[in-house]
Amino acid sequence: MSESTAMAQRPADAKLPTIAVLGGSGREGGGLAFRWAHAGYPVVIGSRDPARAVTAAAALNDELNRAALSAVSLNDELNRAVPGGVHSDPAPAPAGRADAPATRPLATQHHAVVGTSQREAAAAAEIVVFAVPYSAQMPLADEVADLLAGKIVVDVTVPLVPPRVDRVQLPAGGSAVQALQDRLGQAVRVISAFQNISATHLRDPHYVIDCDVLVCGDDADARQVVIDLAAAAGLAAWHAGPLANSVATEALTSLLIAINKRYKVPASGIRITGVPGRDARKA
Ligand SMILES: NC(=O)c1ccc[n+]([C@@H]2O[C@H](COP(=O)([O-])OP(=O)(O)OC[C@H]3O[C@@H](n4cnc5c(N)ncnc54)[C@H](OP(=O)(O)O)[C@@H]3O)[C@@H](O)[C@H]2O)c1
Repeated sequence: MSESTAMAQRPADAKLPTIAVLGGSGREGGGLAFRWAHAGYPVVIGSRDPARAVTAAAALNDELNRAALSAVSLNDELNRAVPGGVHSDPAPAPAGRADAPATRPLATQHHAVVGTSQREAAAAAEIVVFAVPYSAQMPLADEVADLLAGKIVVDVTVPLVPPRVDRVQLPAGGSAVQALQDRLGQAVRVISAFQNISATHLRDPHYVIDCDVLVCGDDADARQVVIDLAAAAGLAAWHAGPLANSVATEALTSLLIAINKRYKVPASGIRITGVPGRDARKA
């Protein structure tokens, strides 16, 4: 496995699980990789071409280093602005809610993101994220299936059918993520999440993404792990029932794309309301 040359220090909490983002050279995977690395998680990105993954990891590390530098001065400003100063514990990037108070410090340390092959990335991680186009999802599953037993797989796949990506066109079986669970078997806990989070703003650590994450899966503990990952990425997330419910989140993306087109915006989103006193980021 080749390490990128970006400079980074180990965060104080070294117990965070390693996350592999397969397809991390792309838009959604690269954005999630950025946010998790920024929050202090060890992140490995996988590609069909390991050299492309190394190049993508180097770009991520440049951005992470710039973000860490700007976090130092922003934390100084926060310390001056907030009575008593901000908390000193390491914290994820900005809060996921527009109305959340910005009283937590921004991360100033992170692991260097590593780029490698899909298989080496999958082997290196406890949590494996599938972030490739729908057409590549099942071939990727075939490629790495033997490396996934006992792990959590987070699938962000939306079964879009170009060119009409603003029209819901779910596959015959219904959910693309459910099909992945069926392929990988019960030794792998597959969780559906992030289908409704546009890649557009993920690589801006200061951008507050105003869209909730619906997390579907048949294992409540694994769902909670992914809800915590969303919180680390600055996003509010919700237990949204069993994996079969993923049909709704996968379909919803085409509605959001239609809204984006109609209202000429890059990244419309959804919010869950009506749960009094509930901070979804701690659900
Ligand atoms: N973009 C968004 O805003 C967004 C939002 C929510 C969910 N999603 C979902 O996230 C997944 C990735 O979307 P994306 O926009 O990030 O896609 P992308 O940038 O087009 O592709 C992601 C990566 O997948 C690999 N890839 C591309 N075509 C492939 C193929 N034919 N076979 C195997 N690997 C291929 C490429 O990596 P290498 O060439 O390095 O192997 C690429 O960097 C999709 O399922 C999408 O529906 C996207």
